[in-house]
Amino acid sequence: MSQFVRFTIDGTECMSTRGQYLVDAARDNGVYIPTLCNFPGVKPKGGCRICTVRVNGKLMTACTTPVAEGMSIENEIKDINELRKSIIELLFIEGNHFCPACEKSGNCELQALAYRFRMLVPRYPYQFPVRRVDASHPRIIKEQNRCILCKRCIRAITDETGRSIFAYRRRSARVEVVVDPKLGKQLTEELAQKAMDVCPVGSIIVKEKGFHVPIGERKYDTTPIGSDIENMQITKI
Ligand code: SF4
Ligand code: FES
Repeated sequence: MSQFVRFTIDGTECMSTRGQYLVDAARDNGVYIPTLCNFPGVKPKGGCRICTVRVNGKLMTACTTPVAEGMSIENEIKDINELRKSIIELLFIEGNHFCPACEKSGNCELQALAYRFRMLVPRYPYQFPVRRVDASHPRIIKEQNRCILCKRCIRAITDETGRSIFAYRRRSARVEVVVDPKLGKQLTEELAQKAMDVCPVGSIIVKEKGFHVPIGERKYDTTPIGSDIENMQITKI
């Protein structure tokens, strides 16, 4: 059996290694599929659903679906993009995201996706939940108003024995992600920086580092999200 598979995305023929996740296979073929809870090198969870594509007529999450021979994938389709936009709007109304005052502005994936999907004002009513800002840890501020519960920090930030330094606390509507009280001391300066970088929004801020790179010079201030993939030079098969 060949280690390569052929498939189409929106009618364009693509090729990738068998078993690769769709989101990665698409990227290798110069096609951007938006993601939020997914992070390179971290086991995919399929939580946020923003990477939803239609595979052989069925809606699937591209970050958890391995590519297979002959797949027909729909990505840049009106109803799928409408679904993605709704997810972004729901994330905005469910938390308290005030982009102009956020330390992560310009580096925030949620903000960048809102721009990409041309969200102006969400179509749903704001919930304005009462959430706290936890500055008790010596290295980081945990801003619960901005947390989208994607679990990227829980999955990516571990101590030397593989235990997650971040954890869920409480259940249902009151759930929040916190530094595990027992493992908080393991959050070194290096891991704190990694946690801030892994977080797609501004929910983990390293103390005294929030404005290290000025607003206006940050990643999505200069290039829209996904444009690096779309501008890749692909050698056609
Ligand atoms: S703190 Fe950031 S990375 Fe962790 S769950 Fe919340 S949004 Fe995701
Ligand atoms: S990026 Fe695929 S479900 Fe979140």
